[in-house]
Amino acid sequence: MNVASIQNLVYLLASVLFIVGLKGLSHPRTAVRGNLMGGLGMLLAIVATLVGSGVVEFELIIGGIAIGAAIGAVLAYRIQMTAMPQLVGLYNGFGGIASVLVAGAVLYQTLFASVAPGIQESVATVASGLVGAVTFWGSLVAFGKLQGIVTEKPVRYRGEQVVKIVVAAAAIAVAVLAARDPARTELYWLLAGAASILGILLVIAIGGADMPIVIALLNSYSGIAAAATGFVLNNTVLIIAGSLVGASGIILTNIMCKAMNRSLANVLFGGVGAIQQSAADADEVYGGRIKSTSAEEVAMILKTAQRVSFVPGYGMAVAQAQTPVRTLTEAMEADDINVDFGIHPVAGRMPGHMNVLLAEENISYDKLREMDAINPEFPNVDVVIVLGANDVVNPVAREASDSPIAGMPILNVDQARTVVVIKRSLSPGFAGIPNPLFAADNTLMLFGDGKKVMEQLVSAYREA
Ligand code: TAP
Repeated sequence: MNVASIQNLVYLLASVLFIVGLKGLSHPRTAVRGNLMGGLGMLLAIVATLVGSGVVEFELIIGGIAIGAAIGAVLAYRIQMTAMPQLVGLYNGFGGIASVLVAGAVLYQTLFASVAPGIQESVATVASGLVGAVTFWGSLVAFGKLQGIVTEKPVRYRGEQVVKIVVAAAAIAVAVLAARDPARTELYWLLAGAASILGILLVIAIGGADMPIVIALLNSYSGIAAAATGFVLNNTVLIIAGSLVGASGIILTNIMCKAMNRSLANVLFGGVGAIQQSAADADEVYGGRIKSTSAEEVAMILKTAQRVSFVPGYGMAVAQAQTPVRTLTEAMEADDINVDFGIHPVAGRMPGHMNVLLAEENISYDKLREMDAINPEFPNVDVVIVLGANDVVNPVAREASDSPIAGMPILNVDQARTVVVIKRSLSPGFAGIPNPLFAADNTLMLFGDGKKVMEQLVSAYREA
């Protein structure tokens, strides 16, 4: 067996590990193992590439790995959960720029060796440059929006779509020219420049709150760019890994869009971030119908309950209220109260946001109920505690209307006997619309910061 065959066998093993690892990521119980398997696959792929490709000088490679690993480790340890989407966005961007640079370097290497790149290499090179540059700049803008460096609002202007179409057409035209005449390397960099402008224009027009969906899409693009670079390098494992990232990114984008009942076109071209709540609407919905309560009163209600469900949302993440949630859960369970959690697929600001926060507190996965499983049971729930969730429990979604969340599947908490909503004010959530749940007859509002209120509730429950 020669070196190339061994390398291919290791690549095959690495690819199997990627696929099995991805499968593992589909359930919280197997996610950590899946992550490790994917990581092991990547390690095998890197070692096989380095050993099998006749690399003579390892200093730069080892130095690069050491610096990258150190930065990655510090970032991963220090990052707040709420800032995870922008970190992922940044990683996608780095993947994109790596594709641009590697494809460009291979182009020079081929030309210096006085070899004319074949049609596969030429097409793959321009695809890497085009998709990689869109991904890099798009991801930087997405990062900037989520980090508050760039305006969160969608940047709209007259003739916006025409400008984007012209830039996209120009980038594609340069890509065709560059693929036909690879020796003119300036065309490659012109292409990367046009694609960079396109990446900025595409993402700057989207509202900051839609960024998690855009980041999933850019994740898919980074995979496509990597797969294209795999064709440039004739590296099978990079083609496979890139295709897997491309496919899983688009599946995730689709899941998020569905859970919000929005089309991808609506996210990309007509963002929710532009919608403003009108004061008149809120007055109409809430006027004189809000019942405010106290931690002591809620504690008394909980003491008499047999079944309590928490419905967490973005506010729990912001307030970092998951620790007192666990304490209260344990206290109620000690009193034989049945406690579970209703998890909406887009609660929070990233997929699995609530699952991760609750898992940090070692709350058992069995208690986390998916929307379809818990919805039919709400009429039998004595108390639902809605903690910092808003849109995902807004009954307006069930009505056919022009509201931005019309048709979005929601958790039907309004069907429970008593609903306690914990949030700081009557401010709207992500969709910017009032929520009639807050004014419902069976709803009590417990105003305050999620963590503080939950801590008060824990003390009040213990004293009740
Ligand atoms: P939202 O509808 O955004 O509502 C969150 C609520 O939390 C707000 O109304 C806010 O009210 C409250 N809040 C904020 N800080 C708080 C604090 N410190 N303590 C207590 N409450 C606090 O959240 P949701 O119900 O989780 O819905 C998620 C929304 O995000 C959906 O519209 C979804 O489509 C969208 N979205 C989700 C994703 C993913 S993948 N999860 C991606 C993109 C968009 P106050 O200001 O009054 O406290």
